[in-house]
Amino acid sequence: MPILNIEDAGSFDVPEGQRLANAIEDCGVDIGHRCGGKARCTTCRVTFTEGEPTVMTRAEYEKLKDRDLLGEVRLSCQIVVDRPMAVTPLMKVEEMGWDDPGPDLAPTVEPEAEWFARNFLEAEGA
Ligand code: FES
Repeated sequence: MPILNIEDAGSFDVPEGQRLANAIEDCGVDIGHRCGGKARCTTCRVTFTEGEPTVMTRAEYEKLKDRDLLGEVRLSCQIVVDRPMAVTPLMKVEEMGWDDPGPDLAPTVEPEAEWFARNFLEAEGA
């Protein structure tokens, strides 16, 4: 099982293939997911210090580009844990003053994942 290191929370063994946002939450961190993991809200945003995937879903790419966040953050609802990772969740329930993190996420990436290398999407101008 890959090791997931979460800033200010610790290191955890997490199931390979789990959505990163679900893995973070299962580790006891109250990361936001206000759209229910559908690449709409960006509240599941994280930064990586290790293990950032080189692939990206089209939905993540389009949302980050739309919000001018491309290259700044990644959307943990659009990532599966497939390697050791070290992340910092940037929008947590307590810090943001929300009542809850948002609707539960499905176990698999939504919308149905179309995976691309990020530079392919940039070259395509998606
Ligand atoms: S973009 Fe909303 S939960 Fe990830």
